[in-house]
Amino acid sequence: MIITIDGPASAGKGTLAAALAGHYNLAYFDTGMVYRAVGLDMMLNRLDIYQENLAEEVARKLTFEKMMSLSRNPEFRGPQGGKNASVVSAYPSVRAALLKMQQDFALEPKFSDGRPAAGVVYDGRDTGTVVCPDADIKFFITASPEVRAERRYKEFLAKGLNISYDEVLQDILARDERDSTRSAAPLKPAPDALILDTSLLSAAEVFAKACEIIDSH
Ligand code: DC
Repeated sequence: MIITIDGPASAGKGTLAAALAGHYNLAYFDTGMVYRAVGLDMMLNRLDIYQENLAEEVARKLTFEKMMSLSRNPEFRGPQGGKNASVVSAYPSVRAALLKMQQDFALEPKFSDGRPAAGVVYDGRDTGTVVCPDADIKFFITASPEVRAERRYKEFLAKGLNISYDEVLQDILARDERDSTRSAAPLKPAPDALILDTSLLSAAEVFAKACEIIDSH
């Protein structure tokens, strides 16, 4: 079984994807990691993220193992990591270079400890449109920019990061703009995606709704 969950930053995709993967015993692929890995690799090697050809070269050399290793760096999930990922993810050549790795995961899905899984929950921006257009169930999760900024701000505070709510909101708005206006795979729901607005719902309510939909499928 393949489930895809797409939507803008901090809409609750990751929380839902992890909960569904646990509940249905499926592997989980957070596809934002491939772009975060390229951005961080470039930053660590002092490469200019605004040069598409350099980003493409880094993307071509990225392996799943290298991505997992880079994900242990504290910068990977930080504000700069998110910004760099958003910039490199807008390059068509970078997206093309990283597509196969994302698609191959569904051929042999694995849990994080290496055990084989019967399917996968993907989360990202284009997993239902480009990565797995034939997925069994597709969700598009969204929420207002203010609600998403509040959620991300709280996450950063919990990590001890010194950042204001306004900075987080501006960053969310800038990322929405970049993610939805880029020429390569702009953020939009697949025609057959189920759209869930989580602005007024708790994580538990979103999970319950998604399970209801999957169980009736
Ligand atoms: O979900 P995230 O914040 O980890 O994603 C980081 C960036 O990667 C974000 O700006 C959008 C981009 N991304 C993408 O373009 N396509 C995906 N499937 C996943 C993420």
